[in-house]
Formats: sequence, C-alpha cells, structure tokens
Amino acid sequence: MEDFHREGEALYCEGVPLGEIAAAVGTPTYVYSHAALERAYMDLVDAFAGLDFMVCFAVKANSNLAVLRSLAAMGAGADIVSGGELYRAVRAGFDPKKIVFAGVGKTESEIVAGLGERILLFNVESASELECIERLASIHGKKARVALRVNPGVETGTHEHISTGHENSKFGVPVEEALQLAERIESYRCVELIGVHQHIGSQISKLAPHVEAIEKSAELVKELKGRGHDIRYFNIGGGLGVPYRGDETLPSPLEFVDAIRPTLKETQAKIICEMGRYIAARAGVLLTKVVYRKRTGEKSYVVSDAGMNDLLRPSLYGAYHEVVPVNGSTGSVAGADLVGPVCESGDFLARERDLPDAGEGEVLAVLDSGAYGFTMASNYNSRPRPAEVMVRGGRWAVVREREHYADLVKGEIVPAFL
Ligand code: LLP
Repeated sequence: MEDFHREGEALYCEGVPLGEIAAAVGTPTYVYSHAALERAYMDLVDAFAGLDFMVCFAVKANSNLAVLRSLAAMGAGADIVSGGELYRAVRAGFDPKKIVFAGVGKTESEIVAGLGERILLFNVESASELECIERLASIHGKKARVALRVNPGVETGTHEHISTGHENSKFGVPVEEALQLAERIESYRCVELIGVHQHIGSQISKLAPHVEAIEKSAELVKELKGRGHDIRYFNIGGGLGVPYRGDETLPSPLEFVDAIRPTLKETQAKIICEMGRYIAARAGVLLTKVVYRKRTGEKSYVVSDAGMNDLLRPSLYGAYHEVVPVNGSTGSVAGADLVGPVCESGDFLARERDLPDAGEGEVLAVLDSGAYGFTMASNYNSRPRPAEVMVRGGRWAVVREREHYADLVKGEIVPAFL
C-alpha cells in the first residue's frame, strides 16, 4: 500500500497522518486514497493498451459518490446491478454510454430507469428478463441494447459465496441457451444484441480460470458473429484478486491481459472489464479505536469500536485484513482476536493473529478495506454506519458523514393503533 505509508511512527494516507483524521472525525471511519484509486485504475488502463477497451468500475465494491466521481473523472465507466447504483452512477457523473447493467433480478422499474438514462447495455441473465426488456422498451418507445451473460461453467477455486461462473450458478445462461436467445432477439423489435458478457467470480488468485472462461466465452462471440449477429462488445467481467496478506503474490493486470490478449484480439470486439476490488480494495482503510483489552483464560482480546456491521468480510468469508497501529509501533500480542462490539460470537475483524499490542484509546487501521467495506455495512445492533473520508495529496474531506441516531429511525412510523 504505497499510498499508505509511515513517516516516523505515524501512518499516513498520502500527505495526511491518519491519526489526524481519527482525531477530527472520530472512529470507526473509512479513509480512501485518491492516488491509490488512480494508480489501480491506470494499472488496468495500461494493461489493456493496444486493445479497444473500456474499464467499468463495479459500483458495488465502493459506491461513495466521491469515489465514483473520481473514477468517472478518470474516464472510467460503471458496472451497476440495481436502480440504486444507477442513481448513484448518474449523480456521480458517469457517461451513460459507459454504464452497463448486470444482475439476475432486474425489476421493471430498474429496467425502465436504465432505458430512460440510455445506458450502454443490459447484461441479460435469462429468457424471462429478455422478454421483459423487449416489452418495456416497446411500451416506452426505446431501443434496448443487450449483452447475453453466458455462464462458461468454470470452477474458480475462490470462496463459494463469491464464485459465480460454475455450472449450477444462478448467474448467466449456458452457451446453448445463449445461442437460442440470440435467435429469439432476431424476432424482437426493440432489443438489439450487441454483446457477450461473462463474470466468473471475485478475488480469483490464479490466471487459469480466467483464461479458460474467457476462451470459452470468446468462442461464443465468434459463433454469434458467424451467425450474423453484430457482437460489438465482449465484457469479460471483473474478479482480479488483490493480495490481502503481505506474503501473497497475485497476477497483475498486465499478466492477466497478456494471458488473454490473443483471444481478446481475435474477437474483434470492444473489451469491457468490470473490476471492483482491484480498483478500490487497496485504496481504503478502516480506522477503529481500541475500546477495551481483555483476557479470557489464555486468550487475548482487543475490543474495537468497529464490528461486523462496519466491515463484514472477516465474519462472512473468513477474509483476512492486515491490522496495523496508526501511531507508533506497539509490539505485538500473539494469538489474539480483534473483536467488535456486536452481540455475535462471529463478530471479529481478525482472529488468532499476532495483533498490535495497542492500548485502550489507540487507533488501528484495518488495511485493504476500500472494496466491499462500507458498501456491505449495516445498522445491525442499531449502530450508525461509519464516516467516510477522501484524501487527495495533502487535503482531505469527509465524503460521508457518520450516521446519527436519528438516521437509524428514519422512515419508521409508529401507527396510531398502537
Ligand atoms: N461484475 C459482476 C457481474 C459481478 O458480480 C462482480 C462482483 C464484479 C463485476 C466485480 O468483481 P470484482 O472485480 O470486485 O471481484 N462481497 C464480496 C465480493 C462479491 C463480488 C460480487 N460480484 C467480497 O467482499 O469479497
């Protein structure tokens, strides 16, 4: 994390000491580095050089408006999966011609909203959805551009919750069905087939599954073209992993693209990639304060003011995030757990680890939390969601206020009959 570094004892985000942000904004707080977002985005852009391509940021990874605005300004497109993400993407200033809409359960109102914004295309995941898009486009006098999401039937070896391309997954359609759907679109008046889409999962640590899946899907592109369909876009999905542990090495964007470059070239289509984690994960940390230290038998606990409601990944996937002190080096405590205040034994940010031996009141940074961090936060245990801060050079700003108690009950109504 070069955009997060130490100067003396203090951990910095770009030119700003994180301790200064924690003191001013409180904790828990997510802090994002603009330079890190740009670095990761440019890694991808540079890797695809020589191809006709577009990098769409998977908004689900981090949907803060300031993050989205930064990426839109860099020229990125957006990969969205809901009407809410469409709303955010448009507000953040993404060019609708660079917005692609995926998801197995798009509702009528979400489709109509997408048509209204004239987004580039819908990634269609079923025959029923296709029919629905044709009907709605016809009613609203619009032309809908679609890509068929094919399920290439590849095992990724990643956590089962984030693997999507295997044969029985709910996502996409098998190759045979994609060919049938393409035929059916010929008879539709308001749907235009312009692309093939695939996405096989997230945090994929090896190149082989990507290569296998992309080769299979590229065959479909060629087959459809051969049958006279004007396939102009090949969306290869996201899924490039990042090293959460210091000793991990994962394929770089350049290694990734080089492994598939000939295949991509051959399709003669514009390549869309929709990375979320690769762009945002290392651009963010979660600052949290040690509330208490305690020992139970032999076990040492560090109790923090951030819990599973703030950062769900460790509890949900057993995900590993490095934890470091924000001020100074504190020594370490072996076999300890960093746990949150939520009333669940599954509420932890780190388990059985050598953790910083931080005293009560000290601030820790949970690293690589910029993707699927705040976006998966909840109000469980009626805990207001954390603040978010963006740093750029020596400047920083709160880009989402910490929620207040009043936010917790917003929209709730106690009816008169009670
Ligand atoms: N495209 C589609 C269709 C997707 O479903 C996803 C992620 C992406 C792109 C972006 O994938 P990425 O480049 O970020 O790997 N909450 C989980 C990750 C869930 C990913 C869901 N889909 C986590 O925290 O690990």
